Amino acid sequence: MKVKTLAKKFKQYVIDLRREFHMYPEASWEEIRTSKRIQEELKKMEIPFSVVAKNGIVATIEGNSDGKTIALRGDIDALQVNECNDVPYKSKHEGIMHACGHDGHTAMLLGAAKVLNEMKKEIQGTVKLFFQPAEELAQGAKKMVEEGVMQGVDGVFGIHLWSDIESGKISIEAGPRMASADLFKIHVKGLGGHGSLPHQGIDAVVAASAIVMDLQSVVSREISPLETAVVSVGVFKSGTRFNVIANEAVLEGTTRCFNNEIREKFPKILERIVTHTASSYRAEGSLTYTFGTPPVINDERCSQIAASTVEKLFDRETITKMGKITGGEDFAEFLSKAPGILAFVGVRNEAKGSCYSHHHEKFDIDEDALEKGTALYAQYALDFLKEG
Ligand code: NI
Repeated sequence: MKVKTLAKKFKQYVIDLRREFHMYPEASWEEIRTSKRIQEELKKMEIPFSVVAKNGIVATIEGNSDGKTIALRGDIDALQVNECNDVPYKSKHEGIMHACGHDGHTAMLLGAAKVLNEMKKEIQGTVKLFFQPAEELAQGAKKMVEEGVMQGVDGVFGIHLWSDIESGKISIEAGPRMASADLFKIHVKGLGGHGSLPHQGIDAVVAASAIVMDLQSVVSREISPLETAVVSVGVFKSGTRFNVIANEAVLEGTTRCFNNEIREKFPKILERIVTHTASSYRAEGSLTYTFGTPPVINDERCSQIAASTVEKLFDRETITKMGKITGGEDFAEFLSKAPGILAFVGVRNEAKGSCYSHHHEKFDIDEDALEKGTALYAQYALDFLKEG
């Protein structure tokens, strides 16, 4: 098993890189050092690449025979979290941390580049490596797609290291895996006045409160109980003083679901509730709905290919099942252009302290999983191209 042997050979290389990226995390759209380091590594490997979407990179490994094109994606940005781990590779950037595992994704993808670069003879087609910026803002993938990176790409494959899965296990199920993540802003206009004379004003606090309550009926009364959806209001700003009737209120929130048809209905449903509820309180309500990222839905056939890849590399027991997640992932933007899957590679290991959730200040990964992820990236690419 050549891929497995090579992944083992580059294990330390991947761990060292992961630790370096971990020490120098950079927020979305600011991945300057990270991007430079990826480019340096690709140059050393003599793999051609181009810079896209500000700090993103698309590298290309051509096989020795013609065929389809597969894109392997790894996201590279970090988060505004202050690291509380006491480790030698602790973040040196105050207030920023790789708290989602993207340091591992970047390192594994470079590891897979090394593996595939040594196996050009066996690549039946072309492998593209997508180093994606700004995933945490759900903007990077969209920008890369807009710049045309998906042209000529027949399939996509991404990995997310995952803290809810035991280290060494891998989830590659077909179907909905991560939710759409959109945002909305509601503006309620009332009329100010003295708190002792409510009838002379139009109370924006009361109207906005009613809107918050009415929004609770969207999921429970308007969406099929067999579907999964979320409507959450996270911001409610209104008022200036205890005895003043507020003349306006601003609400902000997010919607989640796993079904594009429901997603497309959200703006209309929300707008109806906002305008009608507001007007029933004599106020005016308006909605701004911003589409963030679509749901991640893994392709059936690609999931089957991945299952045989995992069995080939490891064994059937490595495959684990995991419920879908209401978090969002902009890998969905690539999936809207070509079939593919997002695989989840387990990094949970209580003995090593890697048992905190993603985005937690003590998030860490079991680095032994990186070798598996590296092998999975490379072998899936070979298998997908062979299947083509
Ligand atoms: Ni992430």
